[in-house]
Amino acid sequence: MVFLRSAALIAACAVSLVSAVDISVQATGGNKTRAYQYGFLHEDINNSGDGGLYAELIRNRAFQYGEKFPASLEAWFPVNGANISISHPKPALSDELPAAINVKSSGKRGGQIGFANEGYWGINVKKQKYSGSFWVKGTYKGQFTASLQSALTDEVFASTKIKSKAVADEWVEHKLELIPKKDAPNSNNTFAITFNAAGAKDGSLDFNLISLFPPTYKGRKNGMRIDIAEALEELHPTFFRFPGGNMLEGDNIDNWWDWKDTLGPLRHRKGFQNTWGYQMTNGFGLLEYLEFAEDMNMEMILGVYSGLSLDGNVVPEDELQPWIDDALNQIEFVRGDANSTWGSKRAELGHPEPFKLEFVEIGNEEWLAGYPHGWETYKQYRLPMFMDAIRAAYPDINIIASGSVFDQNGIDIPEPAIGDYHPYRKPDNFLEEFNLFDNVATPHIIGEVSSTHVNGGIGWEGQLAKWPWWIGSVGGAIGLISYERNADRILGILYAPILRNLERSQWDITILQHAADPALTTRSTDWYIWELMAAHPIIETLPVKGELDPLFFVAGKTKQDSLVWKGACYNTTEHANVPVTVSFEGVAAGTQAELTLLTGPKDPYGYNDPKTGINVVETTKTILEAGEDGEFEFEMPELSVAVLDTYFEDTYSE
Ligand code: AHR
Repeated sequence: MVFLRSAALIAACAVSLVSAVDISVQATGGNKTRAYQYGFLHEDINNSGDGGLYAELIRNRAFQYGEKFPASLEAWFPVNGANISISHPKPALSDELPAAINVKSSGKRGGQIGFANEGYWGINVKKQKYSGSFWVKGTYKGQFTASLQSALTDEVFASTKIKSKAVADEWVEHKLELIPKKDAPNSNNTFAITFNAAGAKDGSLDFNLISLFPPTYKGRKNGMRIDIAEALEELHPTFFRFPGGNMLEGDNIDNWWDWKDTLGPLRHRKGFQNTWGYQMTNGFGLLEYLEFAEDMNMEMILGVYSGLSLDGNVVPEDELQPWIDDALNQIEFVRGDANSTWGSKRAELGHPEPFKLEFVEIGNEEWLAGYPHGWETYKQYRLPMFMDAIRAAYPDINIIASGSVFDQNGIDIPEPAIGDYHPYRKPDNFLEEFNLFDNVATPHIIGEVSSTHVNGGIGWEGQLAKWPWWIGSVGGAIGLISYERNADRILGILYAPILRNLERSQWDITILQHAADPALTTRSTDWYIWELMAAHPIIETLPVKGELDPLFFVAGKTKQDSLVWKGACYNTTEHANVPVTVSFEGVAAGTQAELTLLTGPKDPYGYNDPKTGINVVETTKTILEAGEDGEFEFEMPELSVAVLDTYFEDTYSE
């Protein structure tokens, strides 16, 4: 909701019980920043990759499995009384995909039988082109029918016939297209493949790698879901950390997210036993990550496996070299020229141009798993060995140590490395930590951050809050402001985790929630705060005078040479509005600025509920004029966030 109000109306409402806050912003004396520091971490948690950003519609498309997750028929159903079972045909579709689905007539031969998939808890069916394929083994003379249909009414929205090329001893790929004539009324739909059992030898066929994609973000093959990618793009992200997170580390040394397993044709991707409780397809692989970053114009922070896994086991020093070589190969895949060993593999996969990569993070949260041994080995040999090898090969790469000076038994980050701090906090904690980085010379990223626990609660011993909630979002904004005040040394601020499939999640606080139905893609209260903060990047901080608490603020110059002030108002005396005066040194009387004010629901625990679709965040935009001393006057209600910027579209559009 966006409201435009006049300054006069705001002034008229100003009946205040609390003392005014006078803020003066100096014209010089601050620090240059990287300017574009907002972004996010993506790893596959909460079905945020498979069943989330990755646009594949078929769940369990290739019956992939691992130690923890046996091959199963999850998401598959028989059609017309067929017998369906997991098979291990010889030959297999590939070494990587040995399991398949066998579909067999249950009674007398003949009749149309088949199997259907319920998607990631539903399939969004719209009047658009769906591109699909499936592999078959077994003699079959006849046609396959592929269709998108309602799971509730059996209404068929699109159907197509595919002439069989299937033979006895080989796997043969079949391609299809479906264009529904109308939108389905809801996402309770399935994708089915049927065939005439009479045409199949023994009435039975094996199928594997059954895939169906809607149109994708920027039209990429094997690409991303448009509505989710666009909701992320609207956050103005410029920094992208991947692929984890705990996912990168994996459960044990044999089970980390090995980037090599994620390259090339889908039939050669064996999948990954995700540490978040489900088998992954690895369809969203390293190249897909790189292309997504490219499409979103984001600078990358590539996480490389460091020899520590979540079971706390560590690769010993004398066995570490192969892992370092692996990381060097991975970097070469990303940014090596097309004639290099791994750069040529990237070129073969369709991307001859090297990607830009200037930030590499060694591992993830090294202070956590296997503490204190894991942390000590990181400090003693793992970080130095990785860092020296990467810097020797790529002197321009900035190394990020996955830990900070503030973690338990914190690290003296060796130069020239950068630290990484992960504050998952109660909202009050962001006030308590407001000055945390003021005197830290070592550059850091805030590689994962959000308000996760309610004030007064028992923190990690209890549960995460169920949704981003308004007071949590405002507390989080105070955190963002504290980082921006130190933006010469805080190079990036990244939200994590960003996505949560409403049907299966392990971590409830995310910036967006989603399900099969795009109508349920929900921008949380955090989303509105991050969008506003990131929309006004500061390229140089400016010294600000003014009393902190209940107002927390930062000011600086923007790329357009305008001046910007960002503030959050937390607990006020008797919940009264706070009158604010922001004076910019050197700003002439009559200069205009746009004030964007975010206010929340009456209930500070209010949240954006995907079920109601109601946005509890109100956005008010007002054009203010500077007084004699270059001062702008306005009010901020308790629990609100504001940005005042002398650059705005109307003034600068001519
Ligand atoms: O963001 C969720 C998890 O929190 C990440 O995987 C991990 O790095 C952190 O502990």
